[in-house]
Amino acid sequence: MNTLFIGQNLISLKSVDSTNTFLLNLSNNEKIVEGTVVYAENQINGRGQRNNSWISEGGKSLCLSVLFYPKLDLSHQFTFNKYIALALVSSLNVLGVKSFIKWPNDIFVNDKKIAGVLIENSIREKKLQKSIVGIGINANNNCSDIESAISLKEVLNADIGMKELLSSLCQELEKYYLLFRNDKNQIQDLYHSYLYKKDCLVNFTKEDYQFSAIVKEVDDFGRLILIEKGVEKAYSVGELSFNLF
Ligand code: BTN
Repeated sequence: MNTLFIGQNLISLKSVDSTNTFLLNLSNNEKIVEGTVVYAENQINGRGQRNNSWISEGGKSLCLSVLFYPKLDLSHQFTFNKYIALALVSSLNVLGVKSFIKWPNDIFVNDKKIAGVLIENSIREKKLQKSIVGIGINANNNCSDIESAISLKEVLNADIGMKELLSSLCQELEKYYLLFRNDKNQIQDLYHSYLYKKDCLVNFTKEDYQFSAIVKEVDDFGRLILIEKGVEKAYSVGELSFNLF
């Protein structure tokens, strides 16, 4: 692994319920170094955002979790999430796959989801002490029967080496972590340069109400800022969905 700390301690598993749950339990029971990566070939009970499950195909999806001790003020909590999405997008772009960050944290290629992130935080004394960052990437999967999903193999028309993908992801996570530590404004700018549908008019649904609005930005609280008929409004995660299909 061509990194200083992310992935230097690499725990490779054949099969696990969830890499996030595994790393959470391990880090609760033992002192584990920051940057530890848990990678599993097969994940049988993967967890997604908002209590959804994350289905992955054994040996074909990249499933990993990374341990951070950010010791951050809570005001920077969502900027940390932005840094993760940015590193993930960048690692796909390095492979020649033009991808975007769909608010709040999904990675999209050609209007379909290619990767997802589940970040689980421990907060104590008003600081983000520990963060388990779980990443799932559709790598060599066949997603043709899922309208809203796509894999790297389908974009590139070639198989992806899982070890190469893992190592490129660890490198980008490390590179952007250093930037995150030094220059949060640049993280904000780069995140917005990859924000899906930025400055575009998009159809949304909020409860039973459908409306069109322009995507402006994502604020420091992780809220999506839209401009609807000239008026700016902020929406929290889970409050509205994009109408894409
Ligand atoms: C989402 O888009 O809903 C988030 C998906 C996150 C899936 C990854 S796979 C590795 C890690 N372990 C889990 O149980 N979930 C995350």
